[in-house]
Amino acid sequence: MKIINQKPTAVPPDLPEANLNGGTPMPRFQKKPQVFLETYGCQMNEYDSELVRTILKKENYEFVPKEQEADIVMLNTCAIREHAHRKVYGRVHAIRHARNGKPVMIGILGCMATNLRQELFQDRSLKIDFIAGPDSYKRLPALIDEAVVDGKKSFDVTLSEFETYADVYPSRKEGVNAWIAVMRGCNNFCTFCVVPYTRGRERSRPVTNVVEEVKRLADDGFKQVTLLGQNVNSYRHEEDDFASLLEEVSKVKGIERIRFTSPHPKDFPDRLIDVVAQNPKVCNQIHLPLQSGNDRVLEMMDRTYTRQEFMGLVDNMRKRVSNLVLSTDVIVGFPTETEEEFEDTLSLIRQVEFDSAFTFKYSQRKGTIASKKYPDDVLEETKTERIMRLNDIQKEITYQKNRAHIGETHTILLEPATHTKSKNEMVGRTDGNKLVIVTTPAASTHKVGDMVQVRITDATPHALKSDMLL
Ligand code: SAH
Ligand code: SF4
Ligand code: F3S
Repeated sequence: MKIINQKPTAVPPDLPEANLNGGTPMPRFQKKPQVFLETYGCQMNEYDSELVRTILKKENYEFVPKEQEADIVMLNTCAIREHAHRKVYGRVHAIRHARNGKPVMIGILGCMATNLRQELFQDRSLKIDFIAGPDSYKRLPALIDEAVVDGKKSFDVTLSEFETYADVYPSRKEGVNAWIAVMRGCNNFCTFCVVPYTRGRERSRPVTNVVEEVKRLADDGFKQVTLLGQNVNSYRHEEDDFASLLEEVSKVKGIERIRFTSPHPKDFPDRLIDVVAQNPKVCNQIHLPLQSGNDRVLEMMDRTYTRQEFMGLVDNMRKRVSNLVLSTDVIVGFPTETEEEFEDTLSLIRQVEFDSAFTFKYSQRKGTIASKKYPDDVLEETKTERIMRLNDIQKEITYQKNRAHIGETHTILLEPATHTKSKNEMVGRTDGNKLVIVTTPAASTHKVGDMVQVRITDATPHALKSDMLL
């Protein structure tokens, strides 16, 4: 996609106006407009929804917890795989259906917006009122106004080379961890991936600006920050690289732990690995997306590393960082992937023994290089069979890795419970980001946000169990 900076118009220039009359008739709002916002996709999208809340609240919009109460329903969408994409179409129909013909405005935000604006407007059964891409959220009040006042379909999916929202403080939920986007966009163009098209080019926030926000987060009671970016370790602002950013963030008092996601294997100089190893606040946890263990497939994906180089990087990381917890992403069934090539992925998974892995069946995305160059020729049932074999192997490795912690002592950061079952249980995470269920003594005064010492007593493939050490 071309990065354009032209002023957006209310109607996509390549669509005739006459086709666009299916919009929702909506009187100008008489009271504070009520908004319901639903988020799909990755953490960056969750973060963007927090930005959208701040931007609209400033303009007197009110966020409501129930879709039924809202004048405006906005879906912040994801386009990474076909499944994510289909889900949103289903949701739009369900929202309209639940209103029984009563008016509601529907806006599409996020990655699908950029990728599919024509399709979204053209599908008259959807009756989308406005569309805003990831770099256009500051224009949302204007876009909504255009849609309401002029009864037009409005859109802005312009991708910016500069927008980082450095001047917007997100409306975060309370908790112990705050996500903070330090860079946006991606220049890598892995051939399977839609992100460079939906989110545009890489750009980073100044270190001082990130540090200011982290100080504010510490004042607001957050104990941990997770630095976010589509390609977070290619962060660069003037002379500052990602290692120096981590060092500066770690100087903020009150922040006890720092994590980051998602890095790319190509941007891991020793200096960065050493910051992970030596800075006590930077957690010994790295998410290192592999995608495939076969060189021909890696080349077709344009991942820029070989199997050997990836394994060399893992060795280097493990040598430098003690107790490193490693996770990864894998795609099965990339175009033309043979059984033998898939087995290379399995053998790498067995050799490296990641603590956990997110696994995906290849999903062809419109506009990507792979969709233009390669046929999506691995059968769906082959993809399913491969992902199941991969998951079985990884599940056992994860289980054994978790069991290896039994008997160890860990410091965990207690967090709000979504998993606990009984009153004398709390949950937290190890430095390596493993979920720990901790049995607390009856007289315990520990609370969410505390760092506590525990002894690991048991493990499942999903979590560790522990007793509190007093
Ligand atoms: N920037 C991140 C990736 C974000 S997408 C990174 O490089 O790690 C998260 C994961 O989704 C990717 O790592 C990849 O494994 C998977 N993914 C991306 N595009 C996909 C596609 N077209 N089909 C299947 N999985 C895909
Ligand atoms: Fe997509 Fe590759 Fe960029 Fe990750 S690094 S967002 S997989 S293009
Ligand atoms: Fe999806 Fe966009 Fe994130 S495509 S995974 S919401 S960057």
